[in-house]
Amino acid sequence: MQALILAGGKGTRLRPLTVYTPKPIVPVMNRPFLLYQIDVLKKAGIEDITLSLSYQPDKIQHVLGNGSDFGVNLRYITEPTPMGTGGAYRFAADALRETTVVFNGDILTNLDIAALLDFHTSKQAEATISLTPVGDPSRYGLVETDKNGRVLRFIEKPSPEEAAKLNINTINAGVYVLEPSILDIIALGENRSFEYDVFPEILRLETPFFAYTMSSEYWLDIGTPESYLKAHHDFLDGKIDGFSLEQESDFESATRSEIDLRSRIGSGCSIKPGVKIVNSVIGPGVHIEEKATIENSVIWSHTRIATSAEIRGAVIGRSCHIGRNAIVSEGTVLGDKTALTDYTKV
Ligand code: GDD
Ligand code: MG
Repeated sequence: MQALILAGGKGTRLRPLTVYTPKPIVPVMNRPFLLYQIDVLKKAGIEDITLSLSYQPDKIQHVLGNGSDFGVNLRYITEPTPMGTGGAYRFAADALRETTVVFNGDILTNLDIAALLDFHTSKQAEATISLTPVGDPSRYGLVETDKNGRVLRFIEKPSPEEAAKLNINTINAGVYVLEPSILDIIALGENRSFEYDVFPEILRLETPFFAYTMSSEYWLDIGTPESYLKAHHDFLDGKIDGFSLEQESDFESATRSEIDLRSRIGSGCSIKPGVKIVNSVIGPGVHIEEKATIENSVIWSHTRIATSAEIRGAVIGRSCHIGRNAIVSEGTVLGDKTALTDYTKV
C-alpha cells in the first residue's frame, strides 16, 4: 500500500505566510503540517509515501528529508510545471502501480485510514472518496451519493444558488483511495484536475466509485489564514484527538510572566516579566519583552516582540519585529520579517 500527498499548490490563500514557507510545511502547533498526515498514514501501516511537489520543492525536502526521522519512507516527485491534482497523480504513476491513498496536502484530519481502506475493499470500488459534513459547502467539491454510498454526482465549487438547490452538506474531504485502473483514464503530460476532469470521467465510464462519509472525525482544510488559526485553537481546545504533541519545555520565562496552561511555547524562547500569553502558540526562539500581551495568536519562530506590544487574534510570521506599544489586532496576518515601528496599529 502506498500514499501520494498532493503538495504542489502555491498556497495563494495563505499568503503572505506561504511566500517563503510552502503550505505543506507551515508550522501547526510548531510542527511542519505534513507530519499530521504522515501520522495518520503511519497509523494505518502506510509507510511508503510519495510527495507530489511543484512549488518550492527544495524547502519541503529539506525539512522532511527521507522520512526516517518520522518512521516512514518519503519519495519526492516534482512536476516541471503544476499539472493539476489529477495530472500530478498521473505524473507519479511509475511509483504508484498499486492501490494508493491520495491526500490533498492541506487537510488536517484524524480520519481512520484503515477503516477507509476496509470500506473501499468491501465495496469493490475502483475509487473511493472521503466526505465530511460542513456548514458552507460552496467552497468545496459537492458530492451526491445514493443510499449505498455510490457516487452519483461530483460538482466542484458550485455557486451558492446551485449548492442551495442540491441541499447536500457533505463535501469532498480530499482523501481518496484509487486503484491503478484510474491512472489509465488520465492523459499523461497534461494538466488534469481530479475535481473537474477525472471524477466526472469516472462517473461517465460508470467505474465503481464510492463515498465514505466521516462522522465524528476531525476535518479542516488549513488553506486560509482563518482556518490556519482555527486549527491551532481547535488543538488548544482539545478538539483534535489522535496526535501526540510533546510540550517543549526548554524556554526561559520570568516568574512574573503570566502564561496560561493551554498555550504552547517553543524551545529557546525568552519571556520577560509582566508578559501575558493567553491561548496562543509561540514558535521556537521568540523573544518577548516586558509587559507584552499575546492572546489567541500564532507567532512563528525567531520573532521579537517589544515592550508593551499587544497582539490579539493574529498570525505573525518568522523573524518579525513588533515594536514597543504596537497593537496588532484581530485577523492580522504578517509575513516573515515584517517590522512594525513602535506605536504602530494594524
Ligand atoms: N502536485 C500538485 N500539482 N499538487 C497540487 C496542484 C498541482 O498542480 N494543484 C493543487 N495541488 C494540491 C494543493 O497543494 C493542495 O494540497 C491540494 O492539491 C488541493 O488543492 P487546493 O488548492 O487546496 O484545493 P481546494 O482546497 O480549493 O479544493 C480541494 O480540496 C477541498 C477540500 O479541502 C478540492 O479537492 C475540493 O473538492 C475539496 O472539497
Ligand atoms: Mg485546500
